[in-house]
Amino acid sequence: MTTTLITGANKSLGYETARRLIEAGHTVIVGARDPERGRAAADALGARFVQIDVTDDASVAAAADDIGAHEGGIDVLINNAGVLGTHSPADRITAADAVAVFEVNVVGIVRVTHAFLPLLRRSANPVIVNVSSGMGSFAATHDPGRAEGQVVAPLYTASKAAVTMLTTQYAKSLPDVKVNAADPGYTATDFNGHSGPQTVTEGTDAIVELATVGADGPTGTFRDRHGEMPW
Ligand SMILES: NC(=O)c1ccc[n+]([C@@H]2O[C@H](COP(=O)([O-])OP(=O)(O)OC[C@H]3O[C@@H](n4cnc5c(N)ncnc54)[C@H](OP(=O)(O)O)[C@@H]3O)[C@@H](O)[C@H]2O)c1
Repeated sequence: MTTTLITGANKSLGYETARRLIEAGHTVIVGARDPERGRAAADALGARFVQIDVTDDASVAAAADDIGAHEGGIDVLINNAGVLGTHSPADRITAADAVAVFEVNVVGIVRVTHAFLPLLRRSANPVIVNVSSGMGSFAATHDPGRAEGQVVAPLYTASKAAVTMLTTQYAKSLPDVKVNAADPGYTATDFNGHSGPQTVTEGTDAIVELATVGADGPTGTFRDRHGEMPW
């Protein structure tokens, strides 16, 4: 039995990842910051809900205690929760704007990973998937032929570059854990007013692939649904 915790699983890519992994036989724990939305999603999926706000030490610690008591440990952690942040041009971006985005997208991953590593280490094959973005790729954002090259979003892109770097550094630092980053690709969700051309099923292909790697699977990689992403 594989037990998987997904943050931000009450909707969109997190919810679809939960649906697909349940279909693949995982026991999924739906992590969400809002109890009402989280419980409704978990009930619809036939999963268990755990409250987890990735910006809140006490919430993350309580979620780890709860899962330690109920499931005893986890095999897969999917750090999916993320925010886009401000659309302001660079001359109007404030320090508070930066803290708001980095607190969820980057610090949130460190906070959740720190709290859940002891539970992951009870697994024979511990796996972490960090949901990054092509918007965090230096190569993709400098390629005028790619969608990522057309968008300017200083804080979001910088936060996702940090997510990808955290992933490769954690992979080097934690040889007993598979730590990989997924780029969903531009996907129609609330995140972007449903402007993305991909469905949530297409957008979760890389996440599901990396969440189901075996003991001989890769670590420290960055993939989208077509394969390896350029850094
Ligand atoms: N959609 C795309 O095109 C795309 C492309 C590349 C990467 N991504 C990445 O994919 C991930 C999921 O994106 P999405 O499109 O599914 O976005 P979404 O529709 O906005 O959903 C984001 C999820 O994250 C949760 N969340 C936000 N802040 C949180 C916090 N502090 N604690 C816990 N959960 C929190 C949200 O909860 P609430 O419902 O309570 O707000 C929601 O469940 C993000 O990391 C995003 O950066 C998305």
